[in-house]
Amino acid sequence: MTAKPLLIHITGARPNFPKAAPVIAAMEHHPVRQMLVHTGQHYDARMSEVFFAQLGLPEPDVNLGVGSGSHATQTAAIMVGLEELFAREHPDLVVVYGDVNSTVAAALVAAKMGIPVAHVEAGLRSFDMTMPEEINRLLTDRLSNLLLVTSVDAIAHLGREGADAAAIHFVGNPMIDTLLQHVDSLDSESVAGQVGVDCSQPYVVGTLHRPGNVDDVTNVRELVRAVHSVADQVRFVIPLHPRGRARLEDAGFMNHHNVTVVDPLGYVEFLALVRGAAAVVTDSGGVQEETTVLGVPCLTLRPNTERPVTITHGTNQLVTRQSLPSVLAEVLATGRQATWPVPPLWDGEAGPRIADVLARHLGVVS
Ligand code: UD1
Ligand code: UDP
Repeated sequence: MTAKPLLIHITGARPNFPKAAPVIAAMEHHPVRQMLVHTGQHYDARMSEVFFAQLGLPEPDVNLGVGSGSHATQTAAIMVGLEELFAREHPDLVVVYGDVNSTVAAALVAAKMGIPVAHVEAGLRSFDMTMPEEINRLLTDRLSNLLLVTSVDAIAHLGREGADAAAIHFVGNPMIDTLLQHVDSLDSESVAGQVGVDCSQPYVVGTLHRPGNVDDVTNVRELVRAVHSVADQVRFVIPLHPRGRARLEDAGFMNHHNVTVVDPLGYVEFLALVRGAAAVVTDSGGVQEETTVLGVPCLTLRPNTERPVTITHGTNQLVTRQSLPSVLAEVLATGRQATWPVPPLWDGEAGPRIADVLARHLGVVS
C-alpha cells in the first residue's frame, strides 16, 4: 500500500491562523496526511495561542520558535528550520498563507527543494514596494505552483505577471469562512463591558501596526493627533499590536480620556467588539475584509490597499492621518448601511474549494 501524500501547512503570524483553519478542517475529508508548522514569528499568547484555542486548529506538529528579528534574521531562521524539516519529512505539497515573512520563507525553501507550493491569497497587489508584504506577495506567487485567489482583481494581476492560467484557482476567501463560522456567537455587549466600553454609546475600534504608521516618530506624532481628534468625537478603543506600542506611548497616545488601549484581543473577542462598532480605523489587511462582511464602516489609514474589492464591494475607504477626523465625522453622521454587497465567493465555502484543488493536485480525487 502506498503512503498517503503529505501536505505541510505553514503558519506563523496572527493573520495566518484564521486563513489556515478552514483549509485544514476541509482537508480532513481527503485521504492525505497533514502537518501544521508554526514558525514562531508571533509567539505572545494573545498573538498566537488564543487562535489555536478559539479556531479549533490542531496543535502545531512543529514550532520553529524563530521569534522576532530583522527581516533577514527572521526570514533566514525560518528558512533554515524549514529546510531541515522538509528534508526529513519529504512533503508532497507545502501550503502557505497570506503575505508575512513566514509565507515567503517557506515558498523559497520549498521551491528550491523542488516541492510544489500552494499559495492561499495569491495575486493581491498594493503596488507599493515600500511594504514588506508586497515583496513577500510577489516572490511567493512567482514561486507557487497553485495560486489560490480570493478576489477577481488578483486573477488579472497574476495574468499580467505571466502566471500560468491553469495554476490560478478562484476559490474565495477562507478568512471569511472563519468569520462566518463564528459570527452568530459574537457577543459585542459582553466584550465591550470587559474592555470598559459603554456600548449604549457609539464607539470606534482601532488596530494599527503597519511600519508606515507606527515606526517613524514624525508619523507617530501625526497619528496621535489624528486619533485624538477622533476621540474628541467618540470613544476610541484599540487592542494595540505590540509593534509600535512603546513609540505610541512615548508620543502620548494614551493621554486622552476617550482613548481606551487594551492588549491584543482573542479572535472572538476582537470581532465581537468590531461587530458592535460604529466604525473601524485600521491598517490591517484582514480587518478590511472582515468589516466588509460585517457591514461595519472601515477607514483604512493607508495610501493604498491590496484589497480594492473591500472598497468596490464593501464598507472600506482609504484615509490619511489628515483626513481621518473629518471622514469619521461623516461616517458617524451617516450611520451604517442597512444592506451591503459582499464580494463573490466570500460565502463560507472557500476552505472546501481550496481543499478540492489541493486534493486534485495530490491526485487523491479524480
Ligand atoms: C507581521 C507581518 C505583517 C502582518 C502582521 C500581523 C511581516 C513582514 N509582517 O508584522 O504583514 O500584518 O505580522 O500582525 O511578516 N512582537 C511581540 N510579540 C509577538 C510578535 C511580535 O512583542 O508575538 C513584537 C516584537 O517587538 C517584534 C514586532 O512586534 O519585533 C514586530 O513583529 P514581526 O513579526 O516582525 O512583524 P509584525 O509587525 O508583527
Ligand atoms: N485580530 C484579533 N485580535 C486583535 C486584532 C486583530 O484577533 O486584537 C484578528 C483580526 O480579526 C484578523 C486578524 O487578526 O482576523 C488580522 O491580523 P492582523 O491585523 O494582525 O494582520 P494583517 O491582516 O494586517 O496582515
